[in-house]
Amino acid sequence: MKRNILVFDTTLRDGEQVPGAKLNIQQKVEIAQQLKRLQVDIIEAGFPASSAGDFQAVQEIARTVGDTVSVTALARAVKSDIDAVYESVRPAQNPLIHIVLGTSNIHVEKKFNRSKDAVLQMGVDAVRYAKTLLPHVQYSTEDASRSEFEYLWSTIEAVVKAGATMINIPDTVGYAVPEEFGDLIRRINERLKNLDDRVILSVHCHNDLGLAVANTLSAVKNGAEKVECTINGLGERAGNASLEEVVMGLQVRENYYNSHTGINTKELLRTSRLVSHLTGLDVQVNKAITGENAFAHSSGIHQDGLLKDKQVYEIMAPEEVGADSMELILTARSGRHAFRNAVEKMGFEAGDPADFEQLFEKFLTLADAKKEVYDHDVFYLVTQHRTIKAEEKHLYELASFQVVSNDLHPTATVSLRKGAETITGSAVGDGPIDALYSVIRTLVGLDVELKAYKINSLSRGKEAIGRVNIRIEYEGKVYSGRAMDTDIIKASANAFLNGINAVLLDTAKAAAV
Ligand code: KIV
Ligand code: ZN
Repeated sequence: MKRNILVFDTTLRDGEQVPGAKLNIQQKVEIAQQLKRLQVDIIEAGFPASSAGDFQAVQEIARTVGDTVSVTALARAVKSDIDAVYESVRPAQNPLIHIVLGTSNIHVEKKFNRSKDAVLQMGVDAVRYAKTLLPHVQYSTEDASRSEFEYLWSTIEAVVKAGATMINIPDTVGYAVPEEFGDLIRRINERLKNLDDRVILSVHCHNDLGLAVANTLSAVKNGAEKVECTINGLGERAGNASLEEVVMGLQVRENYYNSHTGINTKELLRTSRLVSHLTGLDVQVNKAITGENAFAHSSGIHQDGLLKDKQVYEIMAPEEVGADSMELILTARSGRHAFRNAVEKMGFEAGDPADFEQLFEKFLTLADAKKEVYDHDVFYLVTQHRTIKAEEKHLYELASFQVVSNDLHPTATVSLRKGAETITGSAVGDGPIDALYSVIRTLVGLDVELKAYKINSLSRGKEAIGRVNIRIEYEGKVYSGRAMDTDIIKASANAFLNGINAVLLDTAKAAAV
């Protein structure tokens, strides 16, 4: 019988640790809703002890998607962290506490400066305490792949006896190689099944040597029953195992792994794009499964073979990951019904009538400018609209702008709205974007430094939308902003404001703590 492999998504915890990928609560909820459509089994929604904002985001996710998906969050092996996880995940139907504590000599000696027995006891005490709060507790033996096997096993045995229901084996620093990691999982699994066969064995692999997916699949082959992954492989340093690659590896080679997952693979591409859009982190064009070229065939020999039979050069159909089924072409004459249909087909809620009307007006403006509106355009239109709606309550919005570009004195004039107030100013710069950013900086009164500016063309068609991603630094912290429009100057202004609004939200949150 085929084994069911549980998929644990940590995009909103490990993935969000990527510098500059900070998401606000509304964006995190948007991603969590998409993860629910993707049908992941468990969402790790954050690290609630780290900030009041993280706590609130985990709680909101537990409330909004926790009816069908299990929700967890990370705690160190200390009571206050465990309390924060418990309080934030408890609105979910099936909440889980996730505790992490190192088992390698280097962690025990350098991080904790305690004896091995004392560290093991900390883990046992943490699990015992977590079990007084919830029935489901996952224990992660951090840096497991560099730990002495017998000490690793003693820890696992002790925390299982204390009540842990899932044991997660992380390759924290991406040091493992597939044969060796598979062997480690096999050895642990043999002992674990003898100790208590209800305990789920899980893995969490990092990609420092580019082996995160290979190690994860090798672990499944050797008995792991749960995989921890992130969308687009986001995560610390070189990232985590990419969810889309692990899931499609298991699906395409189902007979080899004798396993399957409950993932709705048709949502993979959409999820990847949403995460890329909201984090501002691009997916490399040749990335497996979700890269732009993942299903493109350019060589004549390949094209000829494909025309004869797709299987000649295709091991999976693009439709399986949601690539072709997304295609829609709308025009200004398509009408409300067709537009609503397109929005809902993408998995978004159409919103209340007033909100839908605002969205439809934006669609008409875009359709006028672009003539043909593709599925990707609709997708970005909705996500952009939702982000602005969340921000407009108390943050800056672009009211109007004029930019004059020349080789003497490029000048920008900008009006910004914040609640009922409108402020206007002008500035000269080295170029049009410099002038634009200079006036915005002065109007909002924040001395932010522009660290990166990137512009991409999104979707197809003659009048493709431009997407601008920026990174700014304020008081030592990096924030990202993004926006899209058929007018790239407007997209540039909105991306900068989006980053500034992120600074304001973060500093307001910090002041409230
Ligand atoms: O990489 C790691 O060890 C982790 C743990 C919290 C599972 O992220
Ligand atoms: Zn990790």
